[in-house]
Amino acid sequence: MQASRRQFLLGAAAAGAITTPSLAARAAADPQPPAGGPGAAVGSQDSVAGGQDAAGGARAIGRKRIPATGELLPMIGLGTSRTFNVDPSKEQAAQLEVMRRFLDLGGSLIDSSPMYGQAEALCGKLLQQLERKDLFYATKVWTDKGREAGIAQMKESQRLMGPERFDLMQVHNLTGLKEQLATLKAWKVEGRIRYLGVTEMRDYATVEKLMKEDGLDFIQIPYSLGSRKVEERILPTALDNGVAVLVMRPFEAGRLFKAFEGREIPQWAQEFGCHSWAQFMLKFLLGHPAVTCPIPATSKPHHLSDNMAAGVGRLPNADERQRMVALLES
Ligand SMILES: NC(=O)c1ccc[n+]([C@@H]2O[C@H](COP(=O)([O-])OP(=O)(O)OC[C@H]3O[C@@H](n4cnc5c(N)ncnc54)[C@H](OP(=O)(O)O)[C@@H]3O)[C@@H](O)[C@H]2O)c1
Repeated sequence: MQASRRQFLLGAAAAGAITTPSLAARAAADPQPPAGGPGAAVGSQDSVAGGQDAAGGARAIGRKRIPATGELLPMIGLGTSRTFNVDPSKEQAAQLEVMRRFLDLGGSLIDSSPMYGQAEALCGKLLQQLERKDLFYATKVWTDKGREAGIAQMKESQRLMGPERFDLMQVHNLTGLKEQLATLKAWKVEGRIRYLGVTEMRDYATVEKLMKEDGLDFIQIPYSLGSRKVEERILPTALDNGVAVLVMRPFEAGRLFKAFEGREIPQWAQEFGCHSWAQFMLKFLLGHPAVTCPIPATSKPHHLSDNMAAGVGRLPNADERQRMVALLES
């Protein structure tokens, strides 16, 4: 990637998100945190903070480790539910620019599902247009019609999205869990997928059991500043069992922005690089040591740049995260 383009895009994000020029200047000067310092909320072994890259000057997105292998994953992903469910046979300029910026800014994990209508097909088409394949492909299997139906669905997802093999395959909302998980385990052994996982929004007891007993690499669960139930048992269990955590619905499907309407971002949050409420919400999640990668969805290029900037600079420590919750509740 060209450093100058990445710098321009993150600069554009700052310009769109920062309320005053002095804050823009401070964001540009935000230093890379010292290893193990307060910014290294997840511990220097588990993450690489975003900041200046080796070329100097350009702002690189931070990465977190996938516990199962130690592989580093860029810490902001891209969701595709609703926002990418549009006709792929037509020109989709907004989604094309979202995808282009995501990859140019160092993003890698794209999450989709056969449940999301035309999203997988659109992803495949946009990636072809951009001539990009260097990403972390994640999708889901979503059928209760048995093993063969699951296999057919995953093959179709592969045809639509275009990877040689999926990096991550997840059982969507635990649907057809027993049969589909058995296939994912076999496919992982055969090298047909790299990681396996499940997604779920309600049945946390099953997710907890699976993490302890079934060798999951990833889970995907809803977590946000306003909805923190997973902090009780799910996130500690993920940490204890070395399971990576993707965060769905980081903005509660957009509703969480209402809670901050008309409010200024406090100075103390700007000090760790929050220059928009989206960055405030995403940095809160990333500051949790169990969280690997939130996957916000957007159909707007300037929102994409805004979200990616949450992966730059240091992350809030435990005290700062408590302060963020208190601000929401005040
Ligand atoms: N059971 C499951 O497996 C499951 C369930 C739900 C979600 N997911 C996954 O998680 C992903 C994320 O969840 P989600 O799409 O439901 O909700 P979300 O990411 O919490 O919110 C998306 C909404 O936020 C808006 N938005 C994004 N960035 C913004 C910004 N910087 N400023 C203001 N508004 C912004 C988007 O509108 P604009 O388009 O206007 O930017 C969109 O309406 C999904 O796309 C999907 O991949 C999985």
